[in-house]
Amino acid sequence: MSKIYGLLAACVLCSNLAFAQKYQTSAPIEKRVTALLKQMTIEEKIGQLSLYTTDWGSTGPTIREGYKNDIRSGACGNLFNAHTTEFVRELQTIAVQETRLKIPLLFGFDVIHGYKTIFPIPLGEAASWDLKAIELSARVSASEASAAGLNWTFAPMVDISRDPRWGRVMEGAGEDTYLGSQIAAARVRGIQGKKLGQPDAMLACVKHFAAYGAPIGGRDYNTVDMSERYFREFYLPPYRAAVDAGAATVMTAFNDYDGVPATGNAFLLNQVLRKEWGFEGFVVTDYTSINEMLKHGVVENEQQAGELALNAGVDMDMQGAVYQQYLKKSLTEGKVSLAQIDESVRRILRFKFELGLFEDPFKFCDPTREKNTLLSPQNRAAAREVARKSIVLLKNEANALPLQSTQKIALIGPLADNKSELLGSWNGAGNADDCISLLEGLRAAHPTGIVFEKGCEITGTDRSGFAAAIRAAEQSDVVIVAVGEAAMMSGEATSRVHITLTGVQEELVLALCQTGKPVVVVLMNGRPLVIPRLAEKATAIVETWWLGTEAGNAIADVLTGAYNPAGKLPMTFPRAEGQIPVFYNEKSTGRPFDPESKWTSKYIDEPNSPQWPFGFGLSYTTFQYSEPKVLASGKDGFSVHFTLSNTGKMAGEEVAQLYIRDLVGSVTRPVKSLKGFQKVMLQPGETKELHFDVREQDLSFYRFDGTFGTEPGAYDLMIGGNSQDLKTVQIRR
Ligand code: BGC
Repeated sequence: MSKIYGLLAACVLCSNLAFAQKYQTSAPIEKRVTALLKQMTIEEKIGQLSLYTTDWGSTGPTIREGYKNDIRSGACGNLFNAHTTEFVRELQTIAVQETRLKIPLLFGFDVIHGYKTIFPIPLGEAASWDLKAIELSARVSASEASAAGLNWTFAPMVDISRDPRWGRVMEGAGEDTYLGSQIAAARVRGIQGKKLGQPDAMLACVKHFAAYGAPIGGRDYNTVDMSERYFREFYLPPYRAAVDAGAATVMTAFNDYDGVPATGNAFLLNQVLRKEWGFEGFVVTDYTSINEMLKHGVVENEQQAGELALNAGVDMDMQGAVYQQYLKKSLTEGKVSLAQIDESVRRILRFKFELGLFEDPFKFCDPTREKNTLLSPQNRAAAREVARKSIVLLKNEANALPLQSTQKIALIGPLADNKSELLGSWNGAGNADDCISLLEGLRAAHPTGIVFEKGCEITGTDRSGFAAAIRAAEQSDVVIVAVGEAAMMSGEATSRVHITLTGVQEELVLALCQTGKPVVVVLMNGRPLVIPRLAEKATAIVETWWLGTEAGNAIADVLTGAYNPAGKLPMTFPRAEGQIPVFYNEKSTGRPFDPESKWTSKYIDEPNSPQWPFGFGLSYTTFQYSEPKVLASGKDGFSVHFTLSNTGKMAGEEVAQLYIRDLVGSVTRPVKSLKGFQKVMLQPGETKELHFDVREQDLSFYRFDGTFGTEPGAYDLMIGGNSQDLKTVQIRR
């Protein structure tokens, strides 16, 4: 027996060596790519341009079977949704041992907010306004995923969205261009690590290019239409920031932009992405989006769709099999060029070399590393740290929070003793069993005096649990009630018209408020919700999004005051759905709201102002901003100076924010735009002198003639702790 194993092992070793010798050379990558390209048949080239899902964990209908045969024949050059070292090794072995040219496969997966250790949903992380924490989350996620066979993640998602009806807001960084751009770059840095080629670095994939977050009516996959000026100023910068941070790949979007589907849009891909931004990586479609151009109605058949995509700049076809079926025919018919196909193959092969897959196709398949990395104590600790930074305190009347250690707690609600929903949508290979529920977290932090009652479900009309919940509340000192969305209510294809609490959850909370006990609402959800009655009646409200594996511990840290919350909303919370889209950096209009005048821009049945504005979040302490002053610093630049004081009794962090308004422009300008922020820790009574440098770039915009730059005139510079309560200083330049 052992002889046979010895022989087998020797064979594997020999073939690995043979593989390595075939491709091991010190020649520069470009030369190696050229040499390989010369040996490739057209079928093998098209295989490199094709990406297929394996049979598990796919996010849409699988249109092809028998992927192992396609790998063998060279028709499938890349896979997604296959993970674990064991499975990846099995598939990679076919590629490097049974194919003619032995080109290794890329393995992609949606590692959106964690692989096994699940971090907060991206919208939640954005609420931390902590770029180091966000980069750390991406780093840990990449180190876990790359230990489980993967070398490519379909992240970061950087789509700006001002419409909470759109379910995919949970995957992005919210409504703001500046914050979104900073976060996009941080995530790319985290995913790709120090350098591609390191065993824990993965290819990032910026998505969904472009403007996928602006579908009409917030309905997923819907048409996007906006002026190019608006598009360039508010929607494009985060993609650009990710590309500038070195993102290796870009994914197209399902929507059309200006009448052309993003997957066949040469303006987006060839013009903006490649020519203007100098992007040198490869472009992959979103799932079957080449095929979907038929339904968009811009081509008559799939062959034409493939031609449109390739000629527009799409290198890799995800799951559509259009390139595989028709590209050779299109080439013969002269509809696409060999040069274009070669260029796309080159873009993909470059990364296979850069990742080091030709030297060691199994470099991401080390089971010992997998075992030691996934869900390690350090990774869990990082997830807890990022999770508590993501929590936003929205209301805290009469200092109901933090809890006192002697208080008797009634813990109520359908999400209080739940684990699976805490993982949120797009939860990688995360397991609910590994999650800490709120009940567990709170019991660990507050060992005595917790009574739990579910009260109701997330959906449905069953009120039979109300009586017990109310009884528990009456016997407690404080009520904590965990309500919100189920994970499948936000994410892809989950647009909602009513973004309120589902079922009888709101009724339950209002019934608990009737007891006269302080009621702390813990929200768990993937998008801003419309909850005006809770905003009025609840004593305290804590927005916790879906915080992932360490959710319960992180929430308990905040509730008990072991951690002083410092999160700020990355997206406006409306008062009513009819206000949507409602966002902070709107324009003035010719008739800005004036309470004295009927004929101004407003609703007659709701105020214009949101429930909670962008950038808003409370702390257990209080902060005071001084009046800002401006100092010239250097030739063109200047800086805004102010002091920030902790005027409360607890140490805490504040996110100081800088907004700018250009008062007169050749085109209308927003009433405020975020241009800087810093997170500052202050001890009680401590005051710090702070400043923001304002650069030419911060004052620039797409002027009337379409050029990007500044115009002379007056500017308001505003500083404060959210987008509404600001102190202003004016400058002229
Ligand atoms: C989503 C992408 C995702 C892809 C692969 C699509 O449905 O829109 O964001 O990366 O599936 O899972």
